[in-house]
Parts: sequence; C-alpha cells; structure tokens
Amino acid sequence: MREARFVHLSATVKFSRLNKDATMRSRYDDPSFNPAGVALPRFGGPTYALRFRLLRLFWMAAWLLLAAWTPPQLRRWRNALLRIFGARIHETATVHAKARIWWPAHLVMEDYASMGPGVICYNVATITIRSFASVSQRAHLCTGTHDVQDSTFPLVSRPIVIGANAWIAAEAFVGPGVMVGEGAVLGARGVAARSLEAWTIYVGNPAKPVRARRPEAGAAHALAS
Ligand SMILES: CC(C)(COP(=O)(O)OP(=O)(O)OC[C@H]1O[C@@H](n2cnc3c(N)ncnc32)[C@H](O)[C@@H]1OP(=O)(O)O)[C@@H](O)C(=O)NCCC(=O)NCCS
Repeated sequence: MREARFVHLSATVKFSRLNKDATMRSRYDDPSFNPAGVALPRFGGPTYALRFRLLRLFWMAAWLLLAAWTPPQLRRWRNALLRIFGARIHETATVHAKARIWWPAHLVMEDYASMGPGVICYNVATITIRSFASVSQRAHLCTGTHDVQDSTFPLVSRPIVIGANAWIAAEAFVGPGVMVGEGAVLGARGVAARSLEAWTIYVGNPAKPVRARRPEAGAAHALAS
C-alpha cells in the first residue's frame, strides 16, 4: 500500500491533530453556517470562518519565515513543515521554496512528485500528485471556481489528480475537477478544463491532444534499464 510509504514524523505533534477539523470548508459548505445577518462573500463578507482564516494566516507565516527562503537542498525540511500542517507527502517528493500551497492538509504528493518555483497550488479541495509527476514553474493548479448561475456566487471546489509520470509544463493551468491521466503532458501555457487521457500530449487553450507519448517514457523504465 503506497500510503504506508508516507513518512510521518512520530515526534511531531501534527498540527492537523491540534486542529480538530483541518479541512477548510467555505461558509457555503459549512452545515452549521447560518447566513442570517452575516454578509456573504459577494457582499463583502469572508469566504471562510474566522477559525480557518486564522489557521491559514498561521500557515502562511510559518512558510514565509521557515521555508520560503530555503535553498533547493532543504526539501526534506520543507516536506517536514508541510507534514506538520497536515500534508501527506513522500520523503522523496520536492516542493520548491517559491511554490505557494494554499492549505497543506489538502495536499498529497507521492514518491518523486515535484512542484517547481512559482507554482500556484490553490488547493481549496485536495490536490494529489502521483509518483514521478512534475509540475513546472508558475503552473497553476486551481481547485476552486464559482457557481456563476447562482446570485450568491458561491465557491465551488473540486479535487485535482495529476497521474503518475505526468508533466504539467511551465505556466499551464489545470482547472477544478481535472484528472490528468498517467504519463499525460500539458504543454507550456496549456489550459486543461477537462480531464486528460493517459500517455497523450496536449497543448493550447483549451488543451487539445497533439500526439501520443510512449509509456516507455515512464520513470519505471529508466529504473529498470
Ligand atoms: C508540449 C511539448 C512537450 C511538446 O513537445 P513535442 O512533443 O516535441 O511537440 P512539438 O514541439 O513537435 O509540437 C507539436 C505541435 O504542438 C505545437 N506546440 C508545442 N508546444 C506547444 C505549446 N506549449 N502551446 C501550443 N502549441 C504547442 C507545436 O507548434 C506543434 O504544432 P505543429 O504540429 O502545427 O507544428 C513542448 O512543446 C512544451 O510545451 N514543453 C514545455 C516547456 C516547458 O514548460 N519548460 C519548462 C520546464 S523545463
């Protein structure tokens, strides 16, 4: 079971345990939220309850002070910090110091998964990056959108999965609910609003398939040879 291979610091009191419910829910998704007399986000109110906003402030301050300036070699240190805040991240995964993670408890990264500089990981819903998948510089993984047909313009969030050996190239955009198939490629500045087939190269906006990719390009073949 791959989950079992995730490393957890046993000596660390996980932040997500201190916080009884580390799942950030917008006020629209919170069953206990009573909108009577409280401004909705469309009318200047906050999207998240005060508790969540404070937790996220704490997370952003921690990353800024302890990780955002660190050299590439300190990836294990950054992984440990992400884990404290609830990320499930393999010890061989890499998150660049200049990547921006919205909420670590909504992040899963498997072995050798990587996120380059300037990546925007807007994970209001869970983002999973599977083994050997790469997300290049300034790509945007965006799990949030709005219901544009609703007068209150509520936040809607859907998870993203980047399959094993897939590559999201520089400045590409992956939208809410997109499943990127194993070994798929989304070319530089491509826009994926729909899921991408495995071992297929996509370019453009909206992303269209241009050719197949050889499954032999997967990391397992390099390891076996
Ligand atoms: C997607 C990519 C991997 C495709 O490479 P490839 O398989 O060698 O494909 P080609 O270069 O032969 O291009 C195939 C077609 O797609 C077009 N194309 C390639 N990349 C494109 C892109 N990002 N956006 C739009 N069109 C693109 C080419 O113009 C070509 O069109 P044509 O057949 O009409 O001439 C590559 O173009 C790319 O985007 N690389 C990412 C670079 C990057 O992000 N670097 C940063 C990290 S190191």
